[in-house]
Amino acid sequence: MSTEKTPSSVSSSSSNYEVCKGFNGLDKVLLRDARGSSAEVYLYGGHVTSWKNDQAEELLFLSSKAIFKPPKAIRGGIPICFPQFANLGTLDSHGFARNRFWTIDDNPPPFPTNTLSKAYVDLILKPSEDDIKIWPHSFEFRLRVALGPGGELMLTSRIRNTNIDGKPFSFTFAYHTYFSVSDISEVRVEGLETLDYLDNLQKKERFTEQGDALTFESEVDRIYLSTPTKIAILDHEKKRTFVLRKDGLPDSVVWNPWDKKAKAMTDFGDDEYKHMLCVEAAAIENPITLKPGEEWKGRLELSTVPSSYFSGQLDPQRVIQGS
Ligand code: BG6
Repeated sequence: MSTEKTPSSVSSSSSNYEVCKGFNGLDKVLLRDARGSSAEVYLYGGHVTSWKNDQAEELLFLSSKAIFKPPKAIRGGIPICFPQFANLGTLDSHGFARNRFWTIDDNPPPFPTNTLSKAYVDLILKPSEDDIKIWPHSFEFRLRVALGPGGELMLTSRIRNTNIDGKPFSFTFAYHTYFSVSDISEVRVEGLETLDYLDNLQKKERFTEQGDALTFESEVDRIYLSTPTKIAILDHEKKRTFVLRKDGLPDSVVWNPWDKKAKAMTDFGDDEYKHMLCVEAAAIENPITLKPGEEWKGRLELSTVPSSYFSGQLDPQRVIQGS
């Protein structure tokens, strides 16, 4: 359990955050926005573990059995999958960024557009000598976690090839976001209809999504390809819709382990699958390749809007046209 200490505040003309101890003495960064929304980021994994709205309601799922003990990745929140998604390579599942210690970078290279909010933190991950033994490349991975003026959670990843041997490298990537939902059987996902997906439960065979929005009644583990920049998760019971906006991340993984897999995971409660859904903005089908000196950027913005169950509610144009 955590031994909370007085947080140390960092406040400059631009950013404003606090650092304190989380579970097992691991350092975590607290972000608070003037209107009351907040977020927590563990330096272990560069891992967002909490995002709350101005009513202090938690919006991300974090397992009650999450193990905050390296090298185990934290179950819930937003693990960063890099440089490998799942088992698509020789590294351990989802690569190593989610179980390395990141550091705070108070002087990152400037962003082309300035964040309006002061509630943000910049983290950086560089490979250790041991990392280079398993993935022989030098890189700088900069992650900015920010709260927007309306309580949005914004994650920006900038990954640069710093190889001095002239070699390019390729990677796959995902923001493995665990959303908190009231009841998985009352949830629907809009934005992925009619798209192709690779089904992880059927040897990555390619299928085409049929018909209407996605609903859930059994295990799902799919990589949707060439997905739109905006996806919505409608939580009927909560009357809340999560809106994901993404940039640089063409694919979207949808995952719920359902009952059997839930029971098999030591860091996940048997019934917790009912209260979570992963929708992961990702770059998987076409790995990103960077030459030395090149940088890639992948951005995810999460927000919530009140909603009813009816499809089309999100898009004012469609409501006006009555379709
Ligand atoms: C998802 C994958 O992104 O992550 C699933 O599509 C996987 O196949 C899940 O089971 C959880 O992975 P892990 O390594 O955190 O247990």
